[in-house]
Amino acid sequence: MEQVLFINCCIRREQSRTQKLADYMMQCLKELDTYEIKEICLMDEALQYFSDGFFLQRERLLEKQDLQHPRFRYAREFAQADKIVIAAPFWDLSFPALLKVYIENLCVEGITFGYNETGFTGLCWANHMVFLTTRGGFYQDNPMEMGSRYLEAMSHFFGIERYDCIAADGLDAGVRPVEEILQEAKEKIDTLIKTF
Ligand SMILES: Cc1cc2nc3c(=O)[nH]c(=O)nc-3n(C[C@H](O)[C@H](O)[C@H](O)COP(=O)(O)O)c2cc1C
Repeated sequence: MEQVLFINCCIRREQSRTQKLADYMMQCLKELDTYEIKEICLMDEALQYFSDGFFLQRERLLEKQDLQHPRFRYAREFAQADKIVIAAPFWDLSFPALLKVYIENLCVEGITFGYNETGFTGLCWANHMVFLTTRGGFYQDNPMEMGSRYLEAMSHFFGIERYDCIAADGLDAGVRPVEEILQEAKEKIDTLIKTF
């Protein structure tokens, strides 16, 4: 079975509309019976951003090439997954800082990326990253949108060839019923899964 790493950053948990999209996608994948889903709920992790001792510890470990240290477990798990699914709401033109802290912990030279005379090279095994998000306003093809665009760049940085974002836009705009917009996004998930 291929392993899907589902990175859950739906901060509002049961209240979250992004979580609804993620639940739907995970349910569809389970029904296929070909994927093992491993969920990492970022809200339940004691994630630390880099400062002072935590930053210096990383420098020391990298110098010793101690890549098996427990603090690099997120990077090892990410690098080994066959598929990546990230779910996070659109916050402040991007995504919640919690997801950025997780990504900061993923970027470990020798695990998720390498470096040589020609530049950076991704070391992750996965061939597809999917980002599920919901937004209050409308940001399709809008340069102000910096969540999906950043994740797409990170996906390439990690060596993951294919990237897709499914976004439900305008949930707080009051223009269309929320359920209708979510239903449209679910239909896009149905289509995506066919080539996942
Ligand atoms: C802290 C915060 C920041 C937000 N920033 C934006 C924003 O910059 N642009 C926007 O269109 N909506 C913004 N929203 C609205 C959310 O994108 C929208 O309500 C989304 O559906 C929330 O996802 P959730 O239901 O999964 O929590 C923000 C909401 C919160 C709570």
